[in-house]
Amino acid sequence: MDYLKNKGAALDLRVSILLCCVVSAVSGQIRYSIPEEMRKGLFVGDVAKDLGVDVRRLVSGRARLVIDDDNQYVALNKNKGHIVVNERIDREKLCAKKSPCSFSLEIVLEDPLELFSITIEIQDVNDHAPAFPKKEINLEISESTPTGTVFLLDSAADPDVGINSLQSYSLKANEHFVLKQHTRADGSKYAEMMLQSGLDREKQSEHTLILSAVDGGEPQRSGTVRIHVSVLDANDNAPVFTQSVYKASVFENVLRGTVIARVSAVDADQGYNGNVTYSFTHQEEDSSCPFEINSYTGDIKLAGDIDYEVSPNYEINLQAKDPWGVAGASKLIIEIADVNDNSPVITMASFSGKISEDSPPGTVVGLISVQDKDSGKNGQVHLTIDESLPLKIKTSFRNYYTLVTEQNLDREKRSKYNITLTATDEGVPALSSRKNVYLEVTDVNDNAPAFNQSVYNTQVMENNSPGVALLQIHASDPDQGQNARISYFLIDDEVNGNPASTYFSINTESGVIQSLRSLDYEQVKEYKIRIKAQDGGSPPQSSNTTVIVHVQDQNDNPPQVLYPVQTGGSVVAEMVPRSADVGYLVTKVVAVDVDSGQNAWLSYKLQKATDRALFEVGSQNGEIRTIRQVSDKDAVKQRLSVIVEDNGQPSRSATVIVNVAVADSFPEVLSEFSDFPHDKEYNDNLTFYLVLALAVVSFLFITCLVVIISVKIYRWRQSRILYHSSLPVIPYYPPRYSDTLGTTGTLQHVYNYEVCRTTDSRKSDCKFGRGGSQNVLIMDPSCSGTMQRMQGEKSILDEPDSPLEVSCFLSSFSPLSLSLSLCVFFQ
Ligand SMILES: *[C@@H]1O[C@H](CO)[C@@H](O)[C@H](O)[C@H]1NC(C)=O
Ligand SMILES: *[C@@H]1O[C@H](CO)[C@@H](O)[C@H](O)[C@H]1NC(C)=O
Repeated sequence: MDYLKNKGAALDLRVSILLCCVVSAVSGQIRYSIPEEMRKGLFVGDVAKDLGVDVRRLVSGRARLVIDDDNQYVALNKNKGHIVVNERIDREKLCAKKSPCSFSLEIVLEDPLELFSITIEIQDVNDHAPAFPKKEINLEISESTPTGTVFLLDSAADPDVGINSLQSYSLKANEHFVLKQHTRADGSKYAEMMLQSGLDREKQSEHTLILSAVDGGEPQRSGTVRIHVSVLDANDNAPVFTQSVYKASVFENVLRGTVIARVSAVDADQGYNGNVTYSFTHQEEDSSCPFEINSYTGDIKLAGDIDYEVSPNYEINLQAKDPWGVAGASKLIIEIADVNDNSPVITMASFSGKISEDSPPGTVVGLISVQDKDSGKNGQVHLTIDESLPLKIKTSFRNYYTLVTEQNLDREKRSKYNITLTATDEGVPALSSRKNVYLEVTDVNDNAPAFNQSVYNTQVMENNSPGVALLQIHASDPDQGQNARISYFLIDDEVNGNPASTYFSINTESGVIQSLRSLDYEQVKEYKIRIKAQDGGSPPQSSNTTVIVHVQDQNDNPPQVLYPVQTGGSVVAEMVPRSADVGYLVTKVVAVDVDSGQNAWLSYKLQKATDRALFEVGSQNGEIRTIRQVSDKDAVKQRLSVIVEDNGQPSRSATVIVNVAVADSFPEVLSEFSDFPHDKEYNDNLTFYLVLALAVVSFLFITCLVVIISVKIYRWRQSRILYHSSLPVIPYYPPRYSDTLGTTGTLQHVYNYEVCRTTDSRKSDCKFGRGGSQNVLIMDPSCSGTMQRMQGEKSILDEPDSPLEVSCFLSSFSPLSLSLSLCVFFQ
């Protein structure tokens, strides 16, 4: 009985949790009241409705009850949102004497974490009758006992509470004893029997009385005990305890065998009659009493286990008897003092172990329950975690804590947390317990891929085969899984007027860039393309980089000879006077190579010559010079074959034929060149064409002369008219008139050739313009070609008002120039 009562007190602590409930995670609190002893499956309450939570939310949030493992009194029917009875609830077992009796539980919902507190009150049902510890009470009373002596009777117990508990005792009427009822401080009732009239053993040695106890329930229940009184034939004193109530206090952790208290009773009798023996009068079969009494000394020892958490106090009825069986009674109350002997117990009420890295600070990670069976300070618990963690503990209910994030998490910095939860109570010394939980930070696509380099440079030889791999680029993404799966794309910008994708492609997976075309250094020397790297997250993140493809030169172009011009039917012949000295500059071979570097580094060699001993070619500059004095014996017509080679690997070359005329006069040249064997068939025509040419030129000359004279006369007349009209006379002198007259005979304008020069040509090319003006014989298939060129350069004939320019033009047809202009036809 005591045990039950004490257990009730322990549960009381648990129930008081309900009173404090200030926490963010706690969303609601409801209370139900049900009678005890309900059948399994019966309805307790509609939580879904009462909490205002949708039934679907209960299912999706994986609603569950957080309830003491030992006492699964109720269960949650998720589909209906009902709480139902799960096992028989015995109010007396749950709360003993405590009233009202209730227990609390929590409903935990996940995603987001929500906590609802529910209190269920258990109403008492009068399911227990008052019961006496023994079936029979045996009393031995001396016949000399004075009237008015009281005898303590065993109390009946009724575990029900309130009106259902024990209300009164009654004793079947008899002539010797009357009943006296008393109420203890805690409200419990006990009975005493008082001797009302003297006993006489000789008259009646035995008396049988019936004591009954009744409760106030509906229906009323009762219990009875038979009291057997034996009347003793001795005139002695009953032992009397020194105290009516003994009190002792003991720590729950004392060792077995420790003497906890000593009681004593005094018998007024002397000698043998004064020998007192002590005993407990509690129910024999009640083996839960952990104490035993030494019947001779009255020492009370600990014989079993005591636990404050199970039973914080014991009330023991004592009896002292003399050898004649005359007894005295007293009571021992043993208080068990709590010792901090229970470590807190950490339970994860809700913990998924995972959190997304983009969760804002304050996100609830888990719900933790910490229980300490000790009471008072020994049961006051603090839960802590390592302060360096980006998490913190928030107090919810008294025994519930939430683990919340305190900062933003970054999976890329730290993806796993080993969290040590430490629960410490306030006892002295304090007890603590630890629990490790592992929190994994799940990935969010919060990082863009990053290229190793902001700009990649690569080189490729021109004339590459299409499809050749140029380089592999790589981007990295610190995210995880799909969020780090990178694909590469070519950004289709325009490159030299064409989309980049027509030149290059990139392997989406590997990042290998290929050239789709054969590239030509002479066309484009470098390509700038942009590559995008994109991850597989949702939404994806991307970044881009620039790849510069440098095309490298290959010696794929032979040198090109610019001078002497090699056209199909004509050739330029250089004239060398027979008086030329050693080192006389005959001409200069000018060639260019569109390749670059070594591939465009040209050298000149004399390959073949009519007279090898007469000419040499400057290997660097292509100048053809005489290497000995020209003699009369030298043939007029010299044919040189010059090979121009570049310095590439392998080198490429071009050959140019240079015709040199060794002669002092033009007719000599003419006669000699007409001797060219392949020209013979044209010799007949030659004279005719020369005469024709002279005739045309003479005709033009005369025409011009006539025109000039006409213009002069016209002007003179005009000025006469102006003079007569008395207008001011402004003499007109064209600015270059006199100047031109002063330099009459200069032929420079006539021989200005436009030469196509590339930047890569050697600088000695510059000399070409001058060198050519010395004494060049133009041999063109048609004379009109020469004329047209002159007209193009000086469009004099378009300006009829400028006689001066006409005279300039005419000066180019001076006899000297005419004598050098000659059309010679070669095959
Ligand atoms: C977590 O931390 C505790 C204490 O620091 C340690 O004992 C345990 O081994 C750790 N667990 C892991 C998986 O690292
Ligand atoms: C390439 O990256 C730059 C910054 O790095 C950004 O401004 C630009 O929009 C990106 N271009 C593309 C096509 O993604």
